[in-house]
Amino acid sequence: MNPIGRFLSGGRPPALPALLPVLLLLALLVPAAAALRAQSQAERALRGQYLFDAAGCFGCHTDEVHGGQRLAGGRALETPFGTFYPPNITPDPIYGIGNWSDADFIRALRHGVRADGSPLFPAFPYTSYTLMDDGDILDLKAYLMAQKPVAQPNRPHELKDPFGWRVLMPAWNLMYLHVGPLDTNPRQSAQWNRGQYLVRALGHCGECHTPRDWLGGLDPHRALAGIPAADGGEAAPNLTPDPDTGLGRWSEADLLLLLEMGLKPDGDVVGGSMAEVVRNTTSQLTLADRKAIFAYLRSLPPLTAAGPTPPP
Ligand code: HEC
Ligand code: HEC
Repeated sequence: MNPIGRFLSGGRPPALPALLPVLLLLALLVPAAAALRAQSQAERALRGQYLFDAAGCFGCHTDEVHGGQRLAGGRALETPFGTFYPPNITPDPIYGIGNWSDADFIRALRHGVRADGSPLFPAFPYTSYTLMDDGDILDLKAYLMAQKPVAQPNRPHELKDPFGWRVLMPAWNLMYLHVGPLDTNPRQSAQWNRGQYLVRALGHCGECHTPRDWLGGLDPHRALAGIPAADGGEAAPNLTPDPDTGLGRWSEADLLLLLEMGLKPDGDVVGGSMAEVVRNTTSQLTLADRKAIFAYLRSLPPLTAAGPTPPP
């Protein structure tokens, strides 16, 4: 038996010369493993950057209008339920998410639960991000962890009762959260499946283009059918292929131009929050991804957009 084997089986400790090759090997392997991990984190962060853009995390978590620091939170989000101030998601260990584990981060996106176990409000669109797969969520986390930490405390939301009561969220989730990840549909092409993932999971298009009920849940029967102007929140057009009220008459080139530059077929420029979506999100996608969005939207059942709700 060699000296190390004898040591492991309870014999005398091996002399230093006998251990030397093992120590040398360790001295080489440990930094190599660390370098490999750092490299794989760097690769993850690189992939995460694309997902970060496609998922539009920047806009809500940066108070651009007031010159706020990148991802440090504090941008006012006005909703019919009150004003939300999205938190600091920089890697700051105290004010940001620097201390969150991989499991914490997956749980936040998949189930809408914070690291401390308290439920999040769906103004954070976890109802869409839940459809992301674990690998993508971890790539996104690697990207966030590589950003500059900012020590900025969060600003409390200003919400109307009962919408500010976190204790109600588990019941809400039972009604409205359909936990992902998204299944691939084997009867559809890879392009269609990619489009579905971009629209439903990353791009969370339905969070603005699908009508909500009075509790803020998305109406599954009216997915992407648009929100009429008089419903309190911001109006958003119908994205289904209905020829009169939706995108039925739009060619692929029409949609590509809108997603890349914000130009509508009639020459108008897209406005409202869609201008920001185009700037931060859809214009950052590859052409193949923008085409996948068209392929998916074109395949949806055409729904007629509801007209404005008549005044009572
Ligand atoms: C539509 C706006 C919006 C978008 C887009 C958005 N968030 Fe948020 N996010 C929020 C709001 C609002 C909260 C706070 C919710 C609450 O207080 O319950 C939040 C909370 C969070 C939290 C919990 C942090 C904490 O300290 O509790 C994390 C993590 C997070 N977002 C990450 C992301 C990531 C990653 C993305 C992109 C994939 C993203 N967010 C996109 C609005 C948004
Ligand atoms: C933050 C809310 C928000 C999100 C997220 C969002 N949109 Fe929009 N979108 C709007 C609003 C509001 C308009 C109307 C803009 C206007 O009137 O100029 C709009 C307009 C559009 C239009 C123009 C349609 C027309 O008939 O003029 C298209 C196409 C579109 N969005 C596609 C998408 C796609 C695809 C996604 C997901 C990748 C998406 N949107 C995500 C809010 C949003």
